[in-house]
Parts: sequence; C-alpha cells; structure tokens
Amino acid sequence: MLSNALVPFAVLLALSSAAPSPVDVPVHTIPQSRDDYHIYPTVKLDGSPLDKALINANNGELYIGKPTTAECQEAYPCDTLSNATAIIVSNNGAGAAMDVYVPGGQILYVRKTGELGYTAAHAQNVPSDATQKGFMRVEFFPSDKSAYAAVIFHGEAFLACPLGEEGVYRVHAFADSRTDCTKIEIQAVDSGSEPHAYQYTAPYTVS
Ligand SMILES: *[C@@H]1O[C@H](CO)[C@@H](O)[C@H](O)[C@H]1NC(C)=O
Repeated sequence: MLSNALVPFAVLLALSSAAPSPVDVPVHTIPQSRDDYHIYPTVKLDGSPLDKALINANNGELYIGKPTTAECQEAYPCDTLSNATAIIVSNNGAGAAMDVYVPGGQILYVRKTGELGYTAAHAQNVPSDATQKGFMRVEFFPSDKSAYAAVIFHGEAFLACPLGEEGVYRVHAFADSRTDCTKIEIQAVDSGSEPHAYQYTAPYTVS
C-alpha cells in the first residue's frame, strides 16, 4: 500500500544523505490521490502504554480511554455495524469528517483551544472560531522502522491531554496553555471503504 514511487525526489535525496539532519524533520510524503482515506485513528507512540490505543468518538469529542458513542436509525441494519470509530481524511484540502452513513455527514474540526471535535448529525454546528481544514494523510518512511501512514494537522502531530481520570485523554491538535500533554502520532489504520457507524453521538449545541 505504501509506495516508494510516491516519495518526491527531494525526500529521496534526504534519505540517502550521509550527513545527519541538523533538525529532526520527519521524512514524509503526501500521497497525491484524490480519494478519501477511511481510517481508524490509532495512537502511535513507540514504547508507550498508549501505543496502539484506539481514538474514539464520544459525545462530540475524541478520546483515548473512553468508549465510542454511536446512534442508529431503526430502518437501518444497525446490528451489522461495529460502531468502531473511523474518520475520513481527504488530501484535496477539503478537511476531515467522521466516517458515517448519516446523510450530510459529521464534520471533524479543531477548536480554538486545540481539542478535536465533530458536529452532530444533520448539523453544521462547527464552532465559529474552530478550524476545519488542515488535516492530511501522509506516509512516513523512517530509515530504522517500517513505513506507516499517519494523519497530521497543518504539518504537525497531535497531543494526548490527561483529564484527571486514569487512562483517559482528550485528543488535541495543539494545547498552548498546557504543559501536561503527551505528543502522539495518529496512525492512519485502513478501515475499509464503508463506514462502521450510522452516526456518532454529538451535542447539537457546542460552546
Ligand atoms: C451500534 O450502535 C447502535 C446504536 O446504539 C446499536 O443499535 C447497534 O446494535 C450497535 N451495533 C453493535 C454491533 O453493537
């Protein structure tokens, strides 16, 4: 799935260079596909207990250590849905969304204070000061590990910020006012071409 053919020439040059890089710039490439990527957002933090933790949609926010909250319409074959949390990332700049069947979808966004959130079904209730664009799926080719795909937001990885409850973290894109958050990568684990939930639970009004 990951193809070295996609690595731009400049990146290949960087990889083959013998001199160590003066700064720790992650080597990645942006696939040029116009397709949407269907992703189970999963923590990648080698050597940490958080590694491989699933990131779950819960009441309009994304968490590590909380279960997914999903809803379904009776007319739908709800028992066929796993309700696992999956997102869609478009590399065409359109932004990201929850991967759902509900018409109109559910928009993924970043709050002004950095927390990730998503809109309620049938609602475009993105907070007016939130950011919708800037999500991308990229592919990393570390020299010492296997290649992997990850989600980034405006070129950066994410943060897991503790909530005072053991093992529970809120996922942030940034958290300027906090010093207790852990930097994580969101690995883009392929979730297949179909959604896994009808809709994820979210409040209709957000503050
Ligand atoms: C998914 O969630 C819906 C709504 O809560 C529920 O009806 C359905 O049974 C769930 N599916 C599974 C496999 O748990």
